[in-house]
Amino acid sequence: MTHAHYLARRAALAAHLGPHGIAIVPTAPVQQRNRDNDFQFRPDSYFHYLCGFNEPQAWLVIRGDGHSTLFCQPKDLEREIWDGIRLGPQAAPAALGVDAAFPVEQLDAELPGLLDGCDAVWFPFATHKGLETRVDQWLGNVRARARQGAVAPQRLCDLCAVLDEMRLFKDERELSTMRRAAQISAAAHIRAMQLSARMLRSGQPLFEYHLDAELLHAFRQHGSQYPAYPSIVAAGANACVLHYRADAGALRDGELVLIDAGCELDGYASDITRTFPANGRFSGPQRALYDLVLASQQAAVAATRAGARFNDPHEATLKVLAQGMLDLGLLDKNTLGSVDDVIANKNYFQFYMHRTSHWLGMDVHDCGAYTEPREPKASRILQANMVLTLEPGIYVRPAAGVPEAFHHIGIRIEDDAVVTADGCELISRGVPVDPDAIETLMRG
Ligand code: GLY
Ligand code: MN
Ligand code: MN
Repeated sequence: MTHAHYLARRAALAAHLGPHGIAIVPTAPVQQRNRDNDFQFRPDSYFHYLCGFNEPQAWLVIRGDGHSTLFCQPKDLEREIWDGIRLGPQAAPAALGVDAAFPVEQLDAELPGLLDGCDAVWFPFATHKGLETRVDQWLGNVRARARQGAVAPQRLCDLCAVLDEMRLFKDERELSTMRRAAQISAAAHIRAMQLSARMLRSGQPLFEYHLDAELLHAFRQHGSQYPAYPSIVAAGANACVLHYRADAGALRDGELVLIDAGCELDGYASDITRTFPANGRFSGPQRALYDLVLASQQAAVAATRAGARFNDPHEATLKVLAQGMLDLGLLDKNTLGSVDDVIANKNYFQFYMHRTSHWLGMDVHDCGAYTEPREPKASRILQANMVLTLEPGIYVRPAAGVPEAFHHIGIRIEDDAVVTADGCELISRGVPVDPDAIETLMRG
């Protein structure tokens, strides 16, 4: 993103605030991991969306007239030796295109003056611990100067609502970053598949962490800063644990591996799941369930286009999955009735307990309302340049009446879709989903 992009976003936001509104946006806090050791810093997505600044301890204040102020860490030679170069308030206006900049230590001193005369204060509700209290204090300070003519804002407004709506629609630059992120992730999945087959073929012990390492290597090799979320590498029965993390499970000949992993590139996430046979060849029962999940994903893809509702891909998925569960004997036709009954009574939930989609963008579960703004409770109407995942699955835990051949099989297939006028663009198909293509790839 360039200067001009961030300026345009700040101007678009300012237009929402009204001439006397003011927005306050902090970046993310540094989080301690243990003792002297912090988690790697990642800026807050809203903050980064508006200025692209990567340092911790920073705040952006934007007025309705378009004026923007950055509060950031001051230059400090001693600290910079340990922690790295700081931009500093003096260089910030030229570097970031903000109108003014102050050391972050002056936040409490400057904010009351900035708020004086504004009618509404906008900040992200319920996202930053303690922010409401600080806003209260600043407002209190303005009121304390009422006799000197200070006028305190009377309305607090949730900034998330405005920024979520802006972020829901991706521009061409964002889409191009997301395409690259998805390509890097797809290449990483291919490497993991090939490593799995190669190591099992040569009789070497293979654990989930080997594939996790392979994914991370491929992400970083191509310039991704970090995984967009902790990679799931789930061998065999571990795939039935939805939030499993790559651990030390052994990959065994004859079992499947589920990998849900995507890199983050320049602030944008990708999110891909593939399920493949560790040794490169699906067994009969594995293939039967895989074909069903793939068919359900194809139904979701076919239901994704501008004008459709966000829930449509999910409903299309459910129809295929529920019918397949009856056909394969996972669900008992004789007692449960038709596919419509299975859906109405949620019997499919035993094997498919999550939803098919979420928005994707700067955050892997990205912001954006899932209901229509002017039609409360109605599923969102998809529009071009929204990005969502399509990720059906089946997870078979042993239970009475469930054919043993399917026990412990967990399968999910997840792709990233950009909504277009007449369909969707799957940006994550650099790694195949077709089971024959996966087998061919793993033989290579
Ligand atoms: N990887 C998180 C998700 O698929 O939603
Ligand atoms: Mn997902
Ligand atoms: Mn995922």
